[in-house]
This record gives sequence, C-alpha cells and structure tokens, in this order.
Amino acid sequence: MDEHTLTITDNKTGQQIELPVRKATQGPDAVDIGHFFREMGYLTYDPGFLSTASCHSKLTYLDGKQGMLMYRGYPIEQLAEHSNFIEVAHLMMYGELPQQQQLDNFSDIIVHHSMLNEALKSFFRGFYHDAHPMAIMVGVVGSLSAFYHDSTDISNPRHREIAAHRLIAKMPSIAAASYKHSIGEPQVYPDNSLSYVGNLLHMMFSVPCEQFQADPVAEKALDLIFILHIDHEQNASTSTVRLAGSSGANPFACIASGIAALWGPAHGGANEAVLSMLEKIGDVKNIPGYLARAKDRDDPFRLMGFGHRVYKNYDPRARIIRKMCHEVLSKLGNDSDPLFELALRLEEIALNDEYFIERKLYPNVDFYSGLIYKALGIPTNMFTVMFSIARTVGWVAQWMEMISEKNQRIGRPRQLYIGPTKRDYVPIGNR
Ligand code: CMC
Repeated sequence: MDEHTLTITDNKTGQQIELPVRKATQGPDAVDIGHFFREMGYLTYDPGFLSTASCHSKLTYLDGKQGMLMYRGYPIEQLAEHSNFIEVAHLMMYGELPQQQQLDNFSDIIVHHSMLNEALKSFFRGFYHDAHPMAIMVGVVGSLSAFYHDSTDISNPRHREIAAHRLIAKMPSIAAASYKHSIGEPQVYPDNSLSYVGNLLHMMFSVPCEQFQADPVAEKALDLIFILHIDHEQNASTSTVRLAGSSGANPFACIASGIAALWGPAHGGANEAVLSMLEKIGDVKNIPGYLARAKDRDDPFRLMGFGHRVYKNYDPRARIIRKMCHEVLSKLGNDSDPLFELALRLEEIALNDEYFIERKLYPNVDFYSGLIYKALGIPTNMFTVMFSIARTVGWVAQWMEMISEKNQRIGRPRQLYIGPTKRDYVPIGNR
C-alpha cells in the first residue's frame, strides 16, 4: 500500500492534516512531517530524537527489539565471522562486497594514504604531554583540511572519495602519534606490508630500537572490534557529522566534530568509563554496593557498559565480542587478572539482577571492547580513540551518502521555547 497516509486532527480547531507515510525496506515506516508546521502551525517535540528519523539511509539497519544489526543488508554476525575491516569498509563506502581486484585496489589506496604530512607531525609537539589523546584527535583531524585542500571541494565526487580514503587511512597514524606523544616516544612511520590493524599496533607499540611483531590474537581481536564499530545508524556522533556536513563544511572538519561527539561517556567514551568504573569498584565484594547505587534514582552513578538507547533485547555486537573477549583473556593469559575477574562477576550478577532484567539492561559492546583493549595493553585513555578509527568508515560513508543526495538541505532543528515572554529592558539602577 504505497499511498498510506496518517491523518491527524487538532482537537482544539478541528483542523486535519493527512501526512504521507514513507516506506522503509525493513523496520518502521516514517511519517513525513515536512509540511506539518507550515500547514498546522505546530512544531513536533521529540527531545533525544526517540521518534525521529532525521534522514533516509541505505547503510545500516538495526532492530533494537530483535537485537539485529546489518551493514548494507549483511548481518553483522556473518561479516564478523567471514570478513575483515578493509573489506567491510569497501562495502560501506561503495555499497557492495568487492571482487578480489577491487579489494586489492582499495587496500592499496588506503595503505598508500597512511603517511602524515611531515609538517602536520609537528602539531603533536604543541600539545601538553598529558593531553587526552581524544583532545589531540579532535584538533589534528580538524587540521587535516589545512593540509589537503585538493580534496575539500564537496561538490566534486572525486574529491569526496579522496578525502574519505585519506581519513580512513590516516586515522590509525594520527591515533598512534597521539599515543606516542603522550608517552614521550618517537612517532613510528606506517609499514605498508602490514594489515590495517597490524599497522596500527605497529605504530603504537614498536620503537625504532627494537623489532616488533604484533600478536596474531591481538590483530584478530582488534580487526573484529573494528568491524563491529564501523557504523551504528544515526547515533549522536554520526548525526553530528551529518549536521556539520549539511552546512557544507569540509569532510575533515565534519569528522573532527564526530570525534568530539563520540568522546562523551554516554557514547564512545563508555569503554573508557567501564575500566574507570571497574577500578573504582576494586573488588568483587564491593559489587552489591555499586549495584545499589546504580539502581538509586537520586544517585547519578550508572553501570557503565550496560544498557543501550536502541537495543532493548541484547546488543548483537556484545554477543559476538563477548566470545572474543573470553578467548583473548584466556589466550593472552589475563583471565586471572583481578580486574577481569571482577568484570566477569559483575556481568554475571547484573544479568541475573531483577532491576537490570526488568529494564532490559544488558552489557553492551563497550563493556567487552574495554576489557579486550586492556588485555591487549592499550591504555584506557586510548579506548575511545580506537573506536573513532573504526567509526570513521561509518562517518565518511554517511557523510558521502548525505552529500550525494539531490535535495540535500542544511539541518536546522527548531525548539519549544519556554523562556520569558516579551519584557522591557530595565535600567540597572531600577532593577
Ligand atoms: N545503569 C543503571 N541504570 C540504568 C543504566 C545503567 N547503565 N542505563 C539505564 N538505566 C536505567 C535508567 O535509570 C532508567 O531507569 P528508570 O526506568 O527507573 O528511570 C531505565 O534504565 C531506562 O534508561 P534510559 O535512561 O531511559 O535509557 P536511555 O536509552 O536514555 O540511555 C544509555 C541509554 C546507553 C545512555 C544508558 O543506558 C547509559 O547511560 N548506559 C551507560 C553508558 C554506556 O554504556 N553507554 C554506551 C552505549 S553503547 C555505545 C554506543 O553505541 O555509543
């Protein structure tokens, strides 16, 4: 039924409006309210966008009730099992899984864009030694637009593609340089013979005076985490990228704004917050006290790594990564680390607690990714940086999708004004 509409009646005036319902290929259809204000004189009010589709998209589908996630129609479970980060990046950018030759070309392009302009490298030295790496990421990624002018004409599809390649390729180099800066070690150049994540580990952990060989378990785990983090529909950071992009801002600036939005503890910062929370809890015997605090509405404390805005069943990414987490902990010999014991005990207790069961608060992907990062020796303040590397693929794919739309307009939400009504200025002596 393509002509489906929704009729809304104003109980005060009797005025009616028939709103077209836009069909989704899967999941809820959307009521098109584009003319609502013009015809009815009302704005729609939806804080947190719980009922608002801000765009249409062919990239990612998720069903919170069923705990389902697909990239371009492919279930995340299949991609996690059979694919790799670079292949999924190609899928996201170009819409299809690549033929071998296409994959080889794409990998080659990404590899050959991974070096940073030498002048850009000096930026890192300007940051204070204990700067949070996410602060450095926001600054340095934003500054890319000052170096790569030749790919900032957003009306040119080739420019957009080159900018996307550069962003995907350079994020690991920038991330690793942020880390090296924070520990006072020299920046390491990329090695074109390595895989995407192998190269990241190389740039983070090798030093010029020693040979470095990434652990295959670490490489496999990181590649999996990166696939799971590539995209997640219109979340806060992706919406930020789209909104910034809608004004015509260049892609480097848009991705920098996405990194800033990702940083918050309710979003990408949660994986870092999980570890800080575990360290604070400190011991299994303290879990009940912290659980009681998490349940207390007057206490702002929340169990980090639990709950999700959309997944009210189970985060499918958490199911995949949970298995990998247990594998990594046992293979790398960390399963007797008290922090991991504490995490696994917390997982077990919360999964059986009435409060969490009732509200469908399950461990999310960040609960396990934080634990894996820790087991791989990645410092806590780099966790969200790792997330931002993977999510860059989703951000650029979403940005490219938006920019290539025919009737793309600047995003400009309205508001429900609840401030004072008109009043006259009172001179300071009369107030
Ligand atoms: N610990 C304790 N109680 C919680 C938690 C939690 N982590 N999350 C939600 N609740 C309670 C909340 O207090 C509310 O209780 P009540 O119905 O009694 O008022 C109920 O569960 C529903 O929560 P909500 O606040 O309506 O849920 P939301 O959709 O607004 O928030 C969330 C989602 C992810 C921000 C939230 O669950 C949270 O803060 N979790 C911890 C932070 C975290 O792990 N974030 C990472 C999300 S996954 C990564 C990503 O995709 O970005």
